[in-house]
Amino acid sequence: MNLTKAQAEIALDRHRFRVLCCGRRFGKTTLAIDTIKGRAALANSRVCYIAPTYQQARDIAWTQLKSDCQQAASSINESRLEIKLVNNSLIVLRGWESIETLRGQQFDLIVLDEVAMMRNFWLNWQEVIRPTLTDTKGEALFISTPKGFNHFYDLYNLQDTDSDYKSYHFSTYENPHIPYEEIEKAKRELSSDRFAQEYMADFKKTEGLVYKEFDRTKHLFKEMEENEVERIAGVDFGFTNPCAIPTIVRDHADCYWITEEFYETGKTDIEVAEYVAAKGFNRVYPDPEAPAAIAELRKKGVNVREVVKGKDSIKNGIDKVRELLKAGKLKVHVSCRNTIMEFETYSYPDRKPDHNEQENPIDENNHMMDAIRYAITMTSASRNAAYVHYASSNMPRNNLDPLHAGAPVDIFKEKPKTAYVHIPRL
Ligand SMILES: Nc1ncnc2c1ncn2[C@@H]1O[C@H](COP(=O)(O)OP(=O)(O)O)[C@@H](O)[C@H]1O
Ligand SMILES: [Mg+2]
Repeated sequence: MNLTKAQAEIALDRHRFRVLCCGRRFGKTTLAIDTIKGRAALANSRVCYIAPTYQQARDIAWTQLKSDCQQAASSINESRLEIKLVNNSLIVLRGWESIETLRGQQFDLIVLDEVAMMRNFWLNWQEVIRPTLTDTKGEALFISTPKGFNHFYDLYNLQDTDSDYKSYHFSTYENPHIPYEEIEKAKRELSSDRFAQEYMADFKKTEGLVYKEFDRTKHLFKEMEENEVERIAGVDFGFTNPCAIPTIVRDHADCYWITEEFYETGKTDIEVAEYVAAKGFNRVYPDPEAPAAIAELRKKGVNVREVVKGKDSIKNGIDKVRELLKAGKLKVHVSCRNTIMEFETYSYPDRKPDHNEQENPIDENNHMMDAIRYAITMTSASRNAAYVHYASSNMPRNNLDPLHAGAPVDIFKEKPKTAYVHIPRL
């Protein structure tokens, strides 16, 4: 098969890490398969193709690769999705959900198809995939249609700061095998943003975003401009999913500055507690559904505060965070890559025109979002409650009892009982 002009341009590029951002049906998978076969034709090569799921790897790439490699194959393992060639090259297909199985292996080339769909991308790239390319000085080809400003957006921009990276951007129109009329039809049927993302491969804000008001130009900071009043944290525990802990600094104007993030998988409760204790937070708000992990925090002397989860707590918490964003009172340090990613991807379930306000967001890309919500809602709740605060009074309680009003009380004889009275704060 001949590559299209756009595909050929990418195929000829010699950068170690190539990032290809292009529209649906551009010919991404076709290029991926061609690239894999090209590399595997060199003897003793180890090549890996990764799709978002095992099923996708099998449905999309496996059938094609298997038939293309029929002649050159010495063995084909159907269940492991592995093809061994007579020239001693190996082609391995994997789903992102079992990416861990690549740990400790080595590859000359890895092709990642539909990267924007891969969850916890940076963690797995850095901890699992990147090391498999180190000894071999292997290459990677990242291919995707964009999905909001998520990790694929950052990956696409890496060429600005790292000369190993080169990015390409093509729309579906660049595939001459797709009838022009088909694309025009999609243009009429989809919203303009959706069409721009899916076919023009432009980065657009995800539809149904929870924190629509989050804006890099308004909410990111490099240097904190105000004095610190206190330092708090929320904790969303996780082992397979990341454990997320923002360091949140509150200033005099009740502005919250997220100065640092902890976002790691595979950490034990003890390791997490050690991190939190070392940070010396004034108060910490952990997810109440993890009593064992909370017990570890307490053992390390952390000032653990209660997080109350109720019927509308997610919705109310989101409202609170949105208010702060709108008022420009929640800021994120530019280094907090995962926090920014979650703000830019945390979304409600797919388009329901009569979007029900009560509905909760999709349960993904929400680890840091939950941790921030715990800390901010519980802190601001207690601060609002402080408009009425409680102080003890030495007045005999009887004097406060209307039934006995006027009845004489010998305060010298009767030990005064402490009463609590509300003292409004001005
Ligand atoms: N170089 C090519 N020559 C012929 N047909 C191609 C070529 N590249 C892509 N196509 C066709 O275009 C369609 C979309 O290609 P595919 O690789 O599945 O796109 P994507 O992965 O971007 O959605 C498929 O029908 C495929 O056969
Ligand atoms: Mg594809």
